[in-house]
Amino acid sequence: MKHGNIYNAFSIFITRDKKLFELRGVEFDKPTIFFGNLWNVFRDIESEREVFERLYEKYDREKLFGIFILHRPIFVIKDVNLAKQIMIQHFHNFSNFAGKNFHEIFDNYFANHLGCLEGDKWKNAKEKLLSVFAMANLKSLDKCFAFCVGKSLKHIKLQHAHVGETIVIDVHEFINRYIGETIAMIVLGIETGSRDDIVDDILHTSNQIDNELMSFKTMMYLTLTSMMNFRNFKINLISDGVKHFFKQNVLQQIEIRLKQQANNKHNIMQMLIDIGESSEKILSNVFMFLTGGFKSTKELLETCLWELMLNNDIQSKIIMEIDECMEFNNTKEINFEQLNKMNNLNLFMMEVLRKYPPIHFGTRICTKDCTITTKDGELLKFEQNDVIYIPITLIQNDQKYFANPNIFDPTRFSEKINHTNLLSFGLGPRKCLGENFVILQAKYLITSVLTDYTIEKTSLKSSKSDEMEIQLTRRYRQSFRHAD
Ligand code: HEM
Repeated sequence: MKHGNIYNAFSIFITRDKKLFELRGVEFDKPTIFFGNLWNVFRDIESEREVFERLYEKYDREKLFGIFILHRPIFVIKDVNLAKQIMIQHFHNFSNFAGKNFHEIFDNYFANHLGCLEGDKWKNAKEKLLSVFAMANLKSLDKCFAFCVGKSLKHIKLQHAHVGETIVIDVHEFINRYIGETIAMIVLGIETGSRDDIVDDILHTSNQIDNELMSFKTMMYLTLTSMMNFRNFKINLISDGVKHFFKQNVLQQIEIRLKQQANNKHNIMQMLIDIGESSEKILSNVFMFLTGGFKSTKELLETCLWELMLNNDIQSKIIMEIDECMEFNNTKEINFEQLNKMNNLNLFMMEVLRKYPPIHFGTRICTKDCTITTKDGELLKFEQNDVIYIPITLIQNDQKYFANPNIFDPTRFSEKINHTNLLSFGLGPRKCLGENFVILQAKYLITSVLTDYTIEKTSLKSSKSDEMEIQLTRRYRQSFRHAD
């Protein structure tokens, strides 16, 4: 085929989809052939994030706009109420995540991952899993989180030099260790004392999965299968090394637990066995913790420590709350009920999630043609297979929904109205399964560290020039009892 013919073929391909936005009256920027609206990204002029930011601002008055990611047209929702309608009220018309073929890269070994399931299979699985991940159920794990923080701090302290009562730690290292410890102890139910190498194995495998999913091979596979709608072509993208980890640490653990029968240790693995999940499903659900769950949790926890370091007044308020709670309850450990009553801690968590949501986009695919009537009476038509993006970070940093969005201000959540615009864990029936788990993990990290230390900018000279270093200085609790 001559170059001109190839060009024409692509033009027809693109124009066909361009009409989709025109016919629906949706504003969009003219796409470049093959690259869509990402031509600047390929030329290294803008990042993908900057393209979305620019278009989000450009179509300021619209409720939604169109964008082409390569050849694929996508509806980007700007209006938070429309986003809620899609995720909640119209869930039956938008019940699946977009990018389905991304899920298809997992062969049968991992294909029972909740995020991959659809229809009744998804509904039944989610109902069962929600019972495990409900706050009331996770309550029994409260002591384990604090234990994991203590263990991780001890580990990190051994590797860093102390100066008196002050220590400089690398936030990445500390948070990696803490997440590794929680997965080992709370998810897999492995006593880390009995397997010293398990945390290193978890961290190594999570890294390996990440590299495999971001590899050139995976990207090429995803692009080609999505462009050609070539759904039944599968290649092995997850290595045998990763599968070996799962065989050894998940399948073997399940077998041991099933044989022991009366194992009453509290951990997610045991809870999944107790609700009658099969080995394959448990394996796939543990896989979630090592993939998206790991990266987003890491980002959230690191940001929490960082923002506490930057905002001394907010840190002091949380410290006071911890000291008051301990003195009032005459305890050295904060339990689940007490944790939930800590208002400043709650507000702080919400503000971190607003300003820095670890996942930048929610996605949905339209599963049935439908018309949505917006709050102001506008009628918007969607058709089966329309792809929807909800730009969580942009919406949560939009002046329209959160006044002075660049200012880190937890008190904005004192007003209830702001809570409902928070999309960091998604909304509706497809909402994140791990939300409660992650919130507990974060709150125990903060209270455990601040019980004994204050977090400050580094003033000590450290061995590394990493930007993510913080200084922990030992502190002594304040007393609130008045001398009579
Ligand atoms: C800070 C950490 C995390 C954040 C910010 C986060 C955020 C999200 C978001 C935005 C979604 C899409 C929801 C929607 O579109 O309505 C999601 C889905 C999901 N998340 Fe998380 N997530 C985190 C950690 C985890 C962890 C640790 C797990 C492990 C259990 C997990 C399991 C899931 C699952 C299974 C889904 C799909 C739910 C379904 O298909 O019904 N997430 N998450």
